[in-house]
Amino acid sequence: MTEPRKLVIAIDGPAGAGKSTIASRLARKLGYVNLESGAMYRALALKAIMNDISFDDADALLLLAEKSKIELQPQIDGNRVLLDTEDVSRRIRERDVTEAASRVSVHPAVRAWMVARQRDMGVNGGVIMEGRDIGTVVFPNADLKVFLDADPTVRAERRIEQVQAKDPAAAKALVDDLKRRDQRDATRTASPLAPAADAIVLDSSKLGIDDVMARITELIAERTAAAAHE
Ligand code: C5P
Repeated sequence: MTEPRKLVIAIDGPAGAGKSTIASRLARKLGYVNLESGAMYRALALKAIMNDISFDDADALLLLAEKSKIELQPQIDGNRVLLDTEDVSRRIRERDVTEAASRVSVHPAVRAWMVARQRDMGVNGGVIMEGRDIGTVVFPNADLKVFLDADPTVRAERRIEQVQAKDPAAAKALVDDLKRRDQRDATRTASPLAPAADAIVLDSSKLGIDDVMARITELIAERTAAAAHE
């Protein structure tokens, strides 16, 4: 019997909906690679900060991207991110880079550069890519598209827990950051955050991680069976 074809799975949704957790668990379960597209925008944003380039200067940002080597190395619990061979995995999660990533990602030219690289990473299948535009733009023909959503309050609480923000001021700043980023991601002209027409929308505020995993595993089994008959 021939091996089943390895699928391309797109997981999109807003920050804090649980995409990374689900993508890395699924990848482990299926023997696929999980790729965090947001980490690429973060790496470019970090390089813009280091080179003192305006987040509004689309031309300079594209030039910067073209001179950069951004690599995602899937690990058991997320991606190791290399920027020009330097490991920036931790630095890109900091607050200034998070904000900058959402600003550099509004530019169509920057997005086109990212999308071309992201498509290359998926050519052989066996990929779970998470982000904001994976099902709509990067892999419009993905075998499975999941849009993972959750109430803004639930997402904010998860973030507060994740970074262990202790005092109320730090927690409030996190909530404000998340709202601003949501607003920018959802209202930008180029590839705004939205479910693809054929995405399965799952609301993780009402479902635990195990429930989401179970539902997606079912969907993958269906799609794998369908792919075997192609
Ligand atoms: O997913 P993550 O929070 O790491 O993404 C950081 C930022 O990168 C997002 O707020 C969003 O503005 C941008 N992004 C994007 N398209 C993607 C992934 C991330 O615009 N596919």
